[in-house]
Amino acid sequence: MKAITISIINNKGGVGKTSSTAIFAELMAFLGLKVLCIDLDEQSNLSMLLKCYEEDSQRVIDGIETPEKYNVSDLFKYRFREKEEVKQLIRKTGIENLYVIPSSKRHKNTLTYIAANETGNNNIILRKALAAVKEEFDFILIDNAPASNILTVNSIFASDYIITPVRAEGFSYKGLRETIETVAYIKEEHDIENVNFLGTYITQVETNTKIFKELRETYNEELGIKFLNTPIRKDIKVSEMETIFQSLLSYAPSTNAIFDYSHLLLELNILSKEKADMLRSAIGEAGAEAC
Ligand SMILES: Nc1ncnc2c1ncn2[C@@H]1O[C@H](COP(=O)(O)OP(=O)(O)O)[C@@H](O)[C@H]1O
Ligand SMILES: [Mg+2]
Repeated sequence: MKAITISIINNKGGVGKTSSTAIFAELMAFLGLKVLCIDLDEQSNLSMLLKCYEEDSQRVIDGIETPEKYNVSDLFKYRFREKEEVKQLIRKTGIENLYVIPSSKRHKNTLTYIAANETGNNNIILRKALAAVKEEFDFILIDNAPASNILTVNSIFASDYIITPVRAEGFSYKGLRETIETVAYIKEEHDIENVNFLGTYITQVETNTKIFKELRETYNEELGIKFLNTPIRKDIKVSEMETIFQSLLSYAPSTNAIFDYSHLLLELNILSKEKADMLRSAIGEAGAEAC
């Protein structure tokens, strides 16, 4: 087993990166796949959602005291890359098969720690760390902060694929264009060839398919990027699950978001045939045999 690693990236906030990471992860875990999530955002929403968030004291944030447990910030601070070092960062969540390397407030210092180190390659700190545990997982999902910095570069370097959620409102077009340009620039600048852009999808869609279709056509034409067919509808259960820190599958197993994210996961075409069939039958769709 060698994990397929996916970065969820958009330099805008509120577009659905964290929700997508969590829902994809729990769908995969439900299929019996072993999943590791990486929380690269100091806001730590994913860690909170997965109930693996630990509050830092001010002394820990200031670097005066050592934290009780290491997390993603220490991965970058100490450049962990040995198997035993990286394993100590991984927490088991309450969901079977689902693990996380959490973040916390002290992660805001990470950029400074990275910049302070003048030896070694700053772009591949995460890749080196994940290489040590890749054998133990089927998928690694990296939830990025709404930014474009050395952590984003690390995420891309560590990944096989990139996906970009966008919101069907507001500044998403501008945000998307910036994100696409950033990813292309990072790939070009750092000679990253093995990472593939799997595509963009629209989240929090009000079920007005006409607007969605128009938007999709405009995006396709003007940005010339791969647009995925499956929109994620606006679903109040997603925001509710994030308020009560419960997994969506356990809270609302037949809600629209589960259905949409399952379709999107199938469209990404990253599951084995066996797991794809299992997912199709779980969402009540025939076709497993027909395919
Ligand atoms: N499909 C959806 N339907 C309704 N609310 C959603 C949906 N996806 C995300 N949200 C809500 O939108 C907000 C932003 O989503 P989030 O995943 O945190 O975005 P990001 O990680 O890109 O900042 C959160 O409050 C989340 O609960
Ligand atoms: Mg987020």
